[in-house]
Amino acid sequence: MISLAAIPADVLPRAGVAYVHYLSFMVCFGALVLERRLIKPDPNKQEATLMVITDVVYGLAALALLVSGIMRVLYFGQGSSFYTENPLFWWKVGTYLAVGGLSLYPTITYILWALPLRKGELPKVSTQLANRLAWILNIELAGFAAIPLLATLMARGVGLPSA
Ligand code: HEM
Repeated sequence: MISLAAIPADVLPRAGVAYVHYLSFMVCFGALVLERRLIKPDPNKQEATLMVITDVVYGLAALALLVSGIMRVLYFGQGSSFYTENPLFWWKVGTYLAVGGLSLYPTITYILWALPLRKGELPKVSTQLANRLAWILNIELAGFAAIPLLATLMARGVGLPSA
């Protein structure tokens, strides 16, 4: 049986922040896959509303991912210099920021949809816009799939100047 008293005091907060990091990653990925499946020209009200909701969930999970990542660097990881001295860490952060930057386009598009939706009107989505959004989501998904590889290497010190 697991004895809670035998677990060192710092372990549970570390595990908790790591869990938030993984959970928010999964929610981000799931939301992006759903968004990718939903995107189509001239969606009906239900589909357009679901896309707006999915994007909000994605945004909140991306924020939780960032905050939990920063907390791991600062307080719950292997010491901040273990990460900041590793170029793979900066590639990871850069890929996250690039994906985040790319997602501004779909997000702004959905915010513009939310306005007519509130008045009960359907957004006008051309085939060209649907294709563009689909491609942006494809690239975001590829970026998200690459980040855990950078993370697992970085966590094991690969890329550190002395490694
Ligand atoms: C700027 C944002 C991020 C920061 C600052 C950050 C920071 C960190 C830190 C400090 C660790 C702990 C490494 C260790 O155990 O020593 C970690 C682990 C991890 N991160 Fe992130 N992270 C960020 C974004 C992401 C994203 C976007 C993903 C996924 C798409 C991700 C996936 C992972 C995974 C899978 C691990 C576990 C690695 C392992 O233990 O093998 N992180 N991250």
